[in-house]
Amino acid sequence: MALTSPRRAGRRTNVGLLALLLLSGGTGVLAFAVGSPGPARLVVAVHGAAGLGLLLLVPWKAVVVRRAWRRPAGTRGAGGVSLGVATLLTLLTGVLHAAGVTGPWSWSAGVPVLHVHVAAGVATGALVVVHAWGRRQRPRTTDLGRRGLLRAGALGAGAMALWGSGEGLLRLTGAPGAERRATGSFERGTDDPVAMPVTQWISDTVPDSPAAVLVLTAPGRRVRVPVADLDRGDVVRAVLDCTGGWYAVQDWRGVRLDRLLTEHLGRELPVDGSVDVVSGTGFRRRLPLVEAGRLLLATHAAGRPLTPGHGAPVRLVAPGRRGFWWVKWVARVEVVDAPWWLQSPFPLQ
Ligand code: HEM
Repeated sequence: MALTSPRRAGRRTNVGLLALLLLSGGTGVLAFAVGSPGPARLVVAVHGAAGLGLLLLVPWKAVVVRRAWRRPAGTRGAGGVSLGVATLLTLLTGVLHAAGVTGPWSWSAGVPVLHVHVAAGVATGALVVVHAWGRRQRPRTTDLGRRGLLRAGALGAGAMALWGSGEGLLRLTGAPGAERRATGSFERGTDDPVAMPVTQWISDTVPDSPAAVLVLTAPGRRVRVPVADLDRGDVVRAVLDCTGGWYAVQDWRGVRLDRLLTEHLGRELPVDGSVDVVSGTGFRRRLPLVEAGRLLLATHAAGRPLTPGHGAPVRLVAPGRRGFWWVKWVARVEVVDAPWWLQSPFPLQ
């Protein structure tokens, strides 16, 4: 590892690589979960640094690999080449996305490079397990000694410096990546909803005939509200930040959720309860009821009715949350006692 000659590469190099891979995988997933700029900036910086930090260990890993290739075929670990290729693809697509370099892989061709990056990152994670299985690199107490911590510190500082230089380069060259949001997303269609990409979460699809009536429920109560009655003129300016790697700021218009709920279900709603927002497609997200004052059921964006791809006739607007919380084609809103965090962190549909 760092601070030693590549000739002494071995267990510590592998432990360092594993730590960086775990950190980049973990922060990558976290980067999809955070929506507010402060935490997002930190998570994305650590993610980029951990990923690029892998490159710093290449001279040491090259020695480990060369040594392994001199051994008879049956004694080598499995999946090393696939893991190397998957890691390189992950790094390449991560950097291409961050730089905002356009090409056949970009949004213009309908395939966000970020999706390729995430798929390659997940494959890398699976291949790491296969590769490291049965070749466990046991941690030693000396790893936490002065030299061990110095090495880890040098690797961390080097990784941050590499990431910082990349960011500096983007700004110096005026590359599109310099303009990206703290989450890594690029602006697409602010104040112009028609220019916003149409994206769905995993297997969700635009329904043929979205509901014309919204059903509101609370324990013991059920009300049906025509969707045509939802344009009450409440306006929220908010950023829709999609995990596909783009964002747009719009004036969303419709009705505030707290207003709608109290009007139709009464004031005695459980303050510590939650609200399930359910799409006609079955896609659903649960949010804390105390947030209802900041949530909007939108029928319009930038003064125009929503288009089917963007959730017409009504979608949720959840400021500060990533796009997968902004449920489209809302058919039901259910006030429930269950805590909001009792759900899969990411939708499974
Ligand atoms: C072991 C797996 C992974 C590695 C090595 C890796 C590495 C990287 C690298 C090097 C970048 C470019 C950073 C920069 O130049 O500023 C990047 C960007 C990014 N990655 Fe990953 N990544 C991995 C997995 C993931 C996963 C699983 C996700 C999401 C679920 C993810 C989400 C992102 C996002 C959102 C960006 C854009 C951040 C930005 O624009 O700075 N990554 N990744």
